[in-house]
Amino acid sequence: MPTLDFKGKSFVHAHHLSVPFRELVVDAKKSLPAKGEKPSLDDNLIIHGDNLHALKALLPVYAGKVNCIFIDAPYNTGNEGWCYNDNVRSPLMREWLKKSANPVEKEDLERHDKWLCMMWPRIQLLRELLADDGVIFASIDDNEGHRLRDTLDEVFGEDCFIATVLWQKRTSPESRLQLGAAHDFIHVYSKRPNPGRIKKLTLTEEQVESFANPDNDPRGDWVSSDFTAQGYRPNQMYEIKTPLGKPYEPPPGRCWGNIESEFKKLRADGRMWFGVKGDARPRVKTYLSEGDGISCWTWWPNNEVGTNQESKKELNEILGEAGTFDYPKPLRLLQRIIEIATDKNSIVLDSFAGSGTTAHAVLAQNKRDEGKRKFILVETEDYADKLTAERVRRVIKGYKFEGTQREELLREPLTWTKLKKADELIEKAESFELLDKHRFDRIVKSVEDGDLVVTGETKVTEKVDGLSGSFTFVTLGPEMSLDKLLADGLPTFEALAKYVFFTATGRTLSELPKQKAAGFGFIGETDLYRVHLLYQPDKKWLQSNDAALTEKLVDEIVAANTGKKKLLIFGAAKFMSQRELSRLGVDFCQLPYAIHRILGD
Ligand SMILES: C[S@@+](CC[C@H](N)C(=O)[O-])C[C@H]1O[C@@H](n2cnc3c(N)ncnc32)[C@H](O)[C@@H]1O
Repeated sequence: MPTLDFKGKSFVHAHHLSVPFRELVVDAKKSLPAKGEKPSLDDNLIIHGDNLHALKALLPVYAGKVNCIFIDAPYNTGNEGWCYNDNVRSPLMREWLKKSANPVEKEDLERHDKWLCMMWPRIQLLRELLADDGVIFASIDDNEGHRLRDTLDEVFGEDCFIATVLWQKRTSPESRLQLGAAHDFIHVYSKRPNPGRIKKLTLTEEQVESFANPDNDPRGDWVSSDFTAQGYRPNQMYEIKTPLGKPYEPPPGRCWGNIESEFKKLRADGRMWFGVKGDARPRVKTYLSEGDGISCWTWWPNNEVGTNQESKKELNEILGEAGTFDYPKPLRLLQRIIEIATDKNSIVLDSFAGSGTTAHAVLAQNKRDEGKRKFILVETEDYADKLTAERVRRVIKGYKFEGTQREELLREPLTWTKLKKADELIEKAESFELLDKHRFDRIVKSVEDGDLVVTGETKVTEKVDGLSGSFTFVTLGPEMSLDKLLADGLPTFEALAKYVFFTATGRTLSELPKQKAAGFGFIGETDLYRVHLLYQPDKKWLQSNDAALTEKLVDEIVAANTGKKKLLIFGAAKFMSQRELSRLGVDFCQLPYAIHRILGD
């Protein structure tokens, strides 16, 4: 398969592996826990920090567990002010970055290389976080759309490409451009080929209204559709006689939609329709009660999922002045993604959170179907609290906003005859200023789609009910390099347990087992291993003999290992040789040198 090459690729190729782990630190003050609950890492999360580090920090608990990812990375337009500053440990890389411009500007000839260097390790980590049946949606425009597609092909594999959605982000062309873009792309990939997770869309109100029951069918309302298929299939070429005896053959170049025996079953079951009189071409019925929605496709027009303008207005209504943000995504766009790619218990991740639209959409969908979906957002900028989290707080609790109530007072098509009497028309429009001014804050005259329109506008304060929900606001702790952690201060038992379990088994440790209290330091197991950690965040204890692995403790650990799994024991010291331990199926894993410094070795 051809692959994309870019400056820095060899250095960032495995960078995600060397990014240090960090602890997720709860900020209780900025969190909004459920009533009577404490902020917890098990809740919805808003993480303030660089997503490279946040995604790494999520791995121990969320690797392979996220069902739906949406990313809306900087599009690299040259005007966004994003910087490439990942700490890739390579002198060549550092030399390159020292010489080049940051923030990345349009004139920067290496801006595409830098963008790819930024995206590569993040996409690697996102893939690790995705569940086997998970799906990622990556929004982008022409600046990097093709390069992002190549990158996703390389990281996820071509066979995991599902489709590229075209989202119609505008309703009319941008006049200053010769050929302005009407759409953005949303590349959709799955973790494994053919995951089958993309669900059908529920019918809109308008679609539901097109169902009716003109023949009092006991199955209720239905719509009919053509009963033919393209092409020539010999066993689907037969004559159909209507109830009034009128014969029909399939039209040229087509055959019937099913073989004759199936058609007969449908007809006997009252599922065929021959028009009100009973002599029309056969059509097949689809019942509202039996439908499971309509299949989604890659054209997402603005009347279905909103525009850039709509999303700005949405954010403004929720946050007022504080809601100034370039290009938030419309709520309806994210709701569509949540609808087709999640179920009621899914975990949804957005690592370029911006104004928090993804969290809003998750909460809205949970409200709609009483789901328990969980969101995890990551935002690096300082507005993670005042914008990202604040939007989520307001939509959870409900908010008031200043809206405009409109009443149409006049609509006149601007025909040539009317334009010839323009004075009369203007007078008529202006008369509303005099007659109705007292009823409105202002009278607006405009021309819309060839009509002269006069509207009365009144400012009103509206209240939007809360969607309910909760979240925990989180920051990133210092590097969880063990050496560093022990030198700077001791990590909690739980943090170290998650770290050692993940590094030893590559699996996540969601919760510590109750046995920890029994004192064997058992932290979890996989199909192959049982893992123990002999540790307390206490220098004195670590210096004492209690911290060392003794024969007695090994006997107890071995006795508890009824499944005869390989035993991994992390500790500061041991009073037995590895040879003896190996005989008992135990691998002793030394906590690092810093421990010995503490112990005074
Ligand atoms: C295009 S905006 C996303 C808008 C969002 N979809 C919405 O609806 O509001 C991209 C966001 O990603 C954030 N971002 C950029 N680099 C990041 C990084 N390395 N880690 C976390 N967030 C980052 C930016 O600060 C910005 O808020």
